[in-house]
Amino acid sequence: MGRAHATLDKTADDAPSDIALFAEVHDVLLEQVALLQERSGPKMMAGLAELIEDFAADFALEEGLMGVLECKARNQHAAQHDALLHWLRSLLHGDEAVCRTALDELPAWFHWHLETSDMALAVALHGAGSAQGKLFL
Ligand SMILES: [Fe+2]
Ligand SMILES: [Fe+2]
Repeated sequence: MGRAHATLDKTADDAPSDIALFAEVHDVLLEQVALLQERSGPKMMAGLAELIEDFAADFALEEGLMGVLECKARNQHAAQHDALLHWLRSLLHGDEAVCRTALDELPAWFHWHLETSDMALAVALHGAGSAQGKLFL
């Protein structure tokens, strides 16, 4: 853990624009989460289903990038994506209050995911010398 952080610290200055792209996408997704928190009942459940598909699309994009870049951490990173999607999908036909609690936890999840996985992808993207946004967008 300490070692990984040292690596990230060393390279963080080199990859601010790359990580900013991922953070920006997360911000947009979290805005959707905030809008969803204002809904209730079937509307909230329908919105959650759409939100999950938007997450899945973003995750697929990242996994595609990792494939192109041949990232070593690809499986581990994708496993975090899969776990979140699996968990959220399991809530779709359940209790609204449980869904609401899950939505509350999403900002923290994305923060953690950015620091543990997306940051490493941003560094790999930068290391590959990709022009900003060329592969990502
Ligand atoms: Fe991400
Ligand atoms: Fe990710």
